[in-house]
Amino acid sequence: MTRPGQERSIQGPGKSSEGVIDISNDNAKLIAVAGKGGTGKTTVAALLIRYLIEQRKKPILAVDADPNANLNEALGLEVPETISDVLEEMKDNKAIPGGMNKFDFLEYRLSGVLAEGKDVDLLVMGTPEGAGCYCYPNDMLSRYLERLSKNYPFIIMDNEAGMEHLSRRVARTVDALLVISDSSARGIRSAGRVAELVKALKLDVKEMHLVITKTNGDLRDLQEEIEKTGLSVVGAIPLDPQVVEFDLKGLPLYRLPGDSAAVRAVYEIARKVKLVA
Ligand SMILES: Nc1ncnc2c1ncn2[C@@H]1O[C@H](COP(=O)(O)OP(=O)(O)O)[C@@H](O)[C@H]1O
Ligand SMILES: [Mg+2]
Repeated sequence: MTRPGQERSIQGPGKSSEGVIDISNDNAKLIAVAGKGGTGKTTVAALLIRYLIEQRKKPILAVDADPNANLNEALGLEVPETISDVLEEMKDNKAIPGGMNKFDFLEYRLSGVLAEGKDVDLLVMGTPEGAGCYCYPNDMLSRYLERLSKNYPFIIMDNEAGMEHLSRRVARTVDALLVISDSSARGIRSAGRVAELVKALKLDVKEMHLVITKTNGDLRDLQEEIEKTGLSVVGAIPLDPQVVEFDLKGLPLYRLPGDSAAVRAVYEIARKVKLVA
């Protein structure tokens, strides 16, 4: 999808205010999921996207900020490259064609990273550690993301537990942060630590909730741990055999039947957080 503004060139490098990119804007809703790996973050993110598509809220920008990226599979999108790949390439001056300045080349390369789908476009951040360190052309990346995000009324972001991107560069205001936990006491404690981190980082999160996944419908045993996190439970997603089956067959989750328990539970959450006003 090409939207107005996408073809405009990025401003030259410079300090973005407070060194934080604001990928929120008055018109855009930014919903982020966070939590430990394997809890069901990507499943929730993909089903929130599906909800938006059904509500005809397009275009949607999906940002996979988990180094262990798998949102592309859930959405059935091919992602040939990540932001890290491009930043890594930029370290090598020989990669820049003669006669082109570094800035123009970065802009050109970044524009190719966006995987464009029919209803949703996906940006995969990649691995921030090691070679593809983001610190280098941070300002340019910031400006690219900031401008890109202006084209989308809805942004869904899949984060890792450390929330590197939320804390360092992407997003000043998060409309709702869903902390995902599986149905174990240990999982809930880990979600509680994510919530602590959000507070410690002073992230601007309008609302933060706990989502418990793969439940057998009974949260009583977890009640004490849930209370300790100080988070409100916005939804419980049952252990859904259809999700397991889709995972086994490698089918994109957005194709789950509408009556799947996981789909219904995530839609309920979307309504509770007023994803669509
Ligand atoms: N509600 C659910 N019911 C059954 N299996 C689930 C459910 N949610 C997630 N899973 C499975 O758990 C695993 C991890 O889910 P995923 O969404 O990829 O987690 P994360 O993104 O947090 O690592 C996957 O195999 C997925 O199919
Ligand atoms: Mg994931």
